[in-house]
Amino acid sequence: MSDRRSLPSDPSSAPGWVRHEGLRRWVSEIARLVKPEHIVWCDGSGQEYDGLCADLVRAGTFVKLSDKLRPNSYLARSHPTDVARMEDRTFICSARKEDAGPTNNWVDPAEMRGTLRRLFEGCMRGRTMYVMPFSMGPIGSHIAQIGVQISDSAYVAVNMRLMTRMGRAVADWLGEDGDFVPCVHSVGAPLADGERDVAWPCNEKEKWIVHFPEAREIWSYGSGYGGNALLGKKCLALRIASVMARDEGWLAEHMLILGVESPDRQKSYITAAFPSACGKTNLAMLIPPPAFKGWKVTTIGEDIAWIKPGQDGRFYAINPEAGFFGVAPGTSEATNPNAMKMLRENVIFTNVALTPEGDVWWEGMTEQPPARLIDWQGKEWKPGSGHPAAHPNARFTVAAAQCPSMDPRWEDTGGVPISAFIFGGRRSTTVPLVVEAPTWEDGVYMGATLGSETTAAITGKVGVVRRDPMAMLAFCGYNMGDYFAHWLRMGKAVHHPPKIFRVNWFRRDAGGKFIWPGFSENMRVLSWIVERCHGHAQGSATPLGIAPRYEDLNWAGLEKFTRERYRELAQVDGASWKAELASHDELLGKLGAHLPGELERRRTALHESLAA
Ligand code: GTP
Ligand code: SPV
Ligand code: MN
Repeated sequence: MSDRRSLPSDPSSAPGWVRHEGLRRWVSEIARLVKPEHIVWCDGSGQEYDGLCADLVRAGTFVKLSDKLRPNSYLARSHPTDVARMEDRTFICSARKEDAGPTNNWVDPAEMRGTLRRLFEGCMRGRTMYVMPFSMGPIGSHIAQIGVQISDSAYVAVNMRLMTRMGRAVADWLGEDGDFVPCVHSVGAPLADGERDVAWPCNEKEKWIVHFPEAREIWSYGSGYGGNALLGKKCLALRIASVMARDEGWLAEHMLILGVESPDRQKSYITAAFPSACGKTNLAMLIPPPAFKGWKVTTIGEDIAWIKPGQDGRFYAINPEAGFFGVAPGTSEATNPNAMKMLRENVIFTNVALTPEGDVWWEGMTEQPPARLIDWQGKEWKPGSGHPAAHPNARFTVAAAQCPSMDPRWEDTGGVPISAFIFGGRRSTTVPLVVEAPTWEDGVYMGATLGSETTAAITGKVGVVRRDPMAMLAFCGYNMGDYFAHWLRMGKAVHHPPKIFRVNWFRRDAGGKFIWPGFSENMRVLSWIVERCHGHAQGSATPLGIAPRYEDLNWAGLEKFTRERYRELAQVDGASWKAELASHDELLGKLGAHLPGELERRRTALHESLAA
């Protein structure tokens, strides 16, 4: 691994490959504030990764899994107070409160800088400070952005190497004077002289995830988990990037990107926004049912899309990430065989269960749980213990290159052309299987009023419907009303805006069962969407937009799904929609003068078409 340097305040502590004076100066400045024992500049090499993993095993953070069953893979168990993103501890500190808007937590930037000074003063005592230049997006892409993360967590460093392009190659690209987004992270747990470290250091009392949108700066304190700590992901690629996108005329979205190849070898690319833990990873890696001969789905990304208008009047999208930080529970050979293949080796698992043989397990991986396990908190577990063996937000970290369905163009620096945008949420009632928006503006209304039942991916209550506009509620770095206006504008920024669709895999029947089989069967909806984009498929007008009739979908291999059952799935019920529109108003009403008039007009039109 990289050489350790113990002169943190000496700017010459940077290795020769760092040619950027501003970067050296900033790192020295942060080091003076946080007072680490060592500084390590990460070069991103495999040797460095292996060394850090070995350190993490020695420290008790990692358990090395069986070399035979899960080669080169590790299990980490987090502190029970540090298991998911914390939206109530996430702040957008724009100069004006109004620019953060009613859906974000705001604190005056000057006050927040004072708080951060107090928090970060000496916060890395006794620890190593890692410096990680990283790129969001393929190196050299005009859509990519560079960040530099400082962190006192080796767990974060190894995760960043899988999730981003990280290390020396990025410093080379940054050169002497390139722009980068400074990202400072600390677990907030300094060590006194001779104090023994714990397996998962974090701050049990306070956590802060802070963004300065105008300064394009990120500070995170107290958590070592996921989006709180891997700052390239939600903090840079969504909250800060959404502000860049607003200012520069592009889109930074919580969307998967997939390719669909049809039997005539036509390739279409689609992006889809679903809230956290609502099926982006599954959809991005879908394998069509056997009856769909000649159809193929390929993966570009499964969480974030950066989308720019291209010269030819279409939108082009890249996946800014290089790895996946995906939900483990529910992943199986039946639901996502591509993911199971990609997870065979070189994986970091967090908060899953451990088998006596040194392999991993989670709820839904197999029908029968193993007879004995060590649960995510490190305790003996048996079936019937009364609690899940894996945490419901347990995750895997893995390089995207290991996924068998990656599209040949997934690292294309120019991105891929987008034919359709999909919005989806988890709704047990009200929302039909699929609807196409008649116009861009209707589609923006659909996305803006997206609702979903909450999941374990955030702390707090699970299973209540909340409005999650474009699946960006927790990730939009500015005023939600202005974000809608930006979307409306972007429809005019290209000659061929993609069609927009709304889907729902999660409708339940009176008995509480999912009506739609979902997973690979979602191909039936994807193929209809693709064919709509090419003008081949039929649909009929409904009060919500254009929807397929039973006979408009391909049922080959699923003939047992009856017309009756489909009616239940596609039904638009007047009374439920009245209540639904009222709850749209709750969110839209909050936006006041920032709500675009166009969306108000869509809402009125929807009221009228439902009444007709
Ligand atoms: P983040 O990584 O949190 O942004 O979320 P994600 O959207 O990538 O989540 P992921 O794909 O990992 O969602 C996993 C959850 O969605 C699991 O509970 C799956 O069982 C469920 N899921 C995925 N696809 C389907 C589907 O077609 N039908 C049903 N019923 N559940 C699904
Ligand atoms: C999400 O919650 O949407 C995630 C996981 O993708 S995390 O990176 O932890 O935010
Ligand atoms: Mn996500």
